[in-house]
Amino acid sequence: MATAVTDVPLAAPFAAYRGLDDALLEDRIEAVRRRLGRRLVILGHHYQQDGVIAHADYQGDSYQLSKSAAERSDCEAIVFCGVHFMAETADILANRPEQVAARGGRRVDVVLPDMAAGCSMADMAAIGQVEDAWADLGTVIDTGEITPVTYINSAASLKAFCGRHGGIVCTSSNARAVLEWAFERTKRVLFFPDQHLGRNTARRMGVPLDEMCVWNPHDPALGGNSREQLEASRVILWQGHCSVHAMFKPEHVDAIRANLPGVKVLVHPECSMEVVDKADLVGSTSYILRQVEEAAAGSVWAIGTELHLVKRLEKNHPRQTIRFLSPVVCMCATMYRIDLAHLCWSLEHLAAGSPVNLIRVDDETARWAVTALERMLAVS
Ligand code: 13P
Ligand code: SF4
Repeated sequence: MATAVTDVPLAAPFAAYRGLDDALLEDRIEAVRRRLGRRLVILGHHYQQDGVIAHADYQGDSYQLSKSAAERSDCEAIVFCGVHFMAETADILANRPEQVAARGGRRVDVVLPDMAAGCSMADMAAIGQVEDAWADLGTVIDTGEITPVTYINSAASLKAFCGRHGGIVCTSSNARAVLEWAFERTKRVLFFPDQHLGRNTARRMGVPLDEMCVWNPHDPALGGNSREQLEASRVILWQGHCSVHAMFKPEHVDAIRANLPGVKVLVHPECSMEVVDKADLVGSTSYILRQVEEAAAGSVWAIGTELHLVKRLEKNHPRQTIRFLSPVVCMCATMYRIDLAHLCWSLEHLAAGSPVNLIRVDDETARWAVTALERMLAVS
């Protein structure tokens, strides 16, 4: 990105930003936004802190943000206030070869303000483990009859695996449409890394539990399954989960129903099946937001998803009663790593022409990952 930014302080090391006053950081962030105009796009996931989300051009769930990255690739830089897999996805979609060619070879810089903002669920499936599982499955069933489906919360290498093997990516908002797409093509699905999204979605489509099995990547004996179990399975669920949504328990639903008459329980599909079964409504972060936004004054909610989104809903809808489903704090510590200091630091470096924390997926991985992502965008 060009360096002609005169009213922005010379980019300094991150330590110089730590401890700066929030009001000052906000002013400096807005100064960069004004200066760069449409050349810069800031994307913010719903789980981001209020102070950070206030500076985003687009706020959304994983699906909406990947669409924004694909559609706004006329910009020069995307700063992703979210986690690593989201920034990788933005890099892949904003830098599709035909778009880079149309820009005369120029790539869109994609920046993650703090490189430590990962996703513990995405880390539960490594490409080597998935390749091993695929080879092991092939000793029992024909892998030609399996469609690999990766939740977008996964490394680019897993998306590329899906691209290479006739598979597809899904998000929490289109998992059902994606599984329908997969079952039109093959008899079985290997779903990774979130067993809960896979199980909850397949169950609502009518797949019985005895036609699903769980693949434990740490168990060398067919992921902990018998040959018969695998042969009977239509959905093979990777043994991964979100540690934030794992904190919501079915007894929390019972307790809130006992204490809050008329409450509607609204949860994310990364919650366990036992929680989802007791809930009234289940859906992505945008779905959760929409339910509350469209509800009448006086509605009563208990919401099972990341704390920052629930707190924001509570603040923005004072005429409704909104409670956090769990009695304990369930917060995504990695999403929380993106703060005003990191945002300001990364923006000022970008404006000064010396970007930090660039996310760049290698061409070969991106080539196959985009195949799986484009299949998803075509389905939903
Ligand atoms: P959404 O796609 O519903 O925003 O979910 C992303 C996520 O990481 C939930 O934990
Ligand atoms: Fe990953 Fe869970 Fe955080 Fe979402 S909430 S980014 S799935 S760790």
